[in-house]
Amino acid sequence: MEKQNRYVSSLSNIDLNKAWDMFVALVSRPVIEVFHGITSKSIDWFVCLVPGCLFNILVLTKLDAPFFGILKLDWLLPPAGMWTYFTYCIAGAVSGFAIWGSWQTILHNQVSRKLTDVFQTSGLKNSIGKLPAFIFDKPIDEFTRKMRLSRANLPLSQFIAAKENLESALQVYIDEIKEDRERGTVDIIYAGSAIPTGVKLADIAEIGKCRFLIGETRARKIIADLRETPHFLVGGQSGGGKSTFLRQIITTLYLNNPKFEFVLIDLKGGLEFQIFENMERMNVVPNTSGALEFMERLDETLQSRMAILKQNECKDIDAFLKLPAEKRTASCAVNRTVVVIDEAAELFMASDKSGANDAQRAKRLVIKLAAQGRAVGIHLIIATQRPDVKAVDGQIKANLSGIVAFQMPNMHSSQTILDNSRAAHLPKVPGRCIWKTSLEQTEVQTPFLTVEETSNLLKSKKENSDEA
Ligand SMILES: Nc1ncnc2c1ncn2[C@@H]1O[C@H](COP(=O)(O)OP(=O)(O)OP(=O)(O)O)[C@@H](O)[C@H]1O
Ligand SMILES: [Mg+2]
Repeated sequence: MEKQNRYVSSLSNIDLNKAWDMFVALVSRPVIEVFHGITSKSIDWFVCLVPGCLFNILVLTKLDAPFFGILKLDWLLPPAGMWTYFTYCIAGAVSGFAIWGSWQTILHNQVSRKLTDVFQTSGLKNSIGKLPAFIFDKPIDEFTRKMRLSRANLPLSQFIAAKENLESALQVYIDEIKEDRERGTVDIIYAGSAIPTGVKLADIAEIGKCRFLIGETRARKIIADLRETPHFLVGGQSGGGKSTFLRQIITTLYLNNPKFEFVLIDLKGGLEFQIFENMERMNVVPNTSGALEFMERLDETLQSRMAILKQNECKDIDAFLKLPAEKRTASCAVNRTVVVIDEAAELFMASDKSGANDAQRAKRLVIKLAAQGRAVGIHLIIATQRPDVKAVDGQIKANLSGIVAFQMPNMHSSQTILDNSRAAHLPKVPGRCIWKTSLEQTEVQTPFLTVEETSNLLKSKKENSDEA
């Protein structure tokens, strides 16, 4: 008898479990999808609101009964009674939300099934044959979604190795795979469309003063402003696109800011920046000794500008530039100076003893410029293949608030520049990088401006100013 009772109770447990699963699938899942849709602003309001509005119009005009009759859906009409009528009206009003939420649930289930197949074919199975489980998938913004999986005790590297399989099976583009060790979960950030390649630098004048284009994401252009982000670190392995990126920054800033001064330190022997040689306001420095000399001069400039700001009771260069000329105590011009260092590791690393002294001096000067340059309008843009502490001092790095990380050879280098491994997993597309500030971190395609295009832009600017 006792055995029979136990049997009956376990049977009712099974039924309860099934009933709960059905409830989750039919009711709570669409509601959760609608909730995620509203919080992430990805909900389709048109689909959600139009059926409810049409339904209410039918009810108010008493056309609902004939309408359902034509469609042979009379069974939807409520039996007599205030409460059933009330329920009928509410259900009609939220029908659009139910349709949208259910559609999202169907997509969710499809993804879940596809994932199980991918996990199996990619060997994403732990030692006891358990597969990662799908937890949720929700929109982050208009373009990207986040999918959370249980890790099934598999290392993150195995998920990263399966990235291409996941992308082709799900027909998506994966931006990032990261783990939460404490929760035992893995988050996959993905989108339905690729980040554009072959981004062009369109209308330079439109970018505006003190600003330049970092690149394009799926959704928007990212434009940096020296007044908000004063210094930049550009890192990445050979061929990633560092020098090309620097070339377009210099060109934009030069053409849009007729008073800016430039110090272009090119430690690849002056090859990258020779296009800017002999131009007004441009100083191209091709070696470390010249670079040191310029650093010393910039240090003096820093001191004298500090003094001018103090005399004029201005907290920074912006405040000083806003002062009417007659109110300024100094007659000398105070203009922003952009210092670009390509292959900076050459400047900070030395092979012999005398070189070591120079390297120390260079480091000290750059640390000072990075820490105090913002207020006086001296901006540093430092590019290096090796973003480690030996090549770029921690104190310098701490002051470079905008980071552009092109593809890195390994997770360690990426970790050094970004504090995560994203730059090691970038696709092998020249010009593709991670843009990081204290506010955001996103994958970006930087614009491509060829040497010829740069030369033409500079020439036409020169011709215009000669004519004027
Ligand atoms: N934004 C871009 N879009 C398309 N192609 C690009 C882009 N940036 C760079 N490239 C291509 O990649 C090549 C290498 O770029 P670049 O010389 O800027 O790399 P780098 O990171 O400076 O390399 P190195 O460290 O060896 O100096 C360029 O010649 C160009 O063909
Ligand atoms: Mg280069």
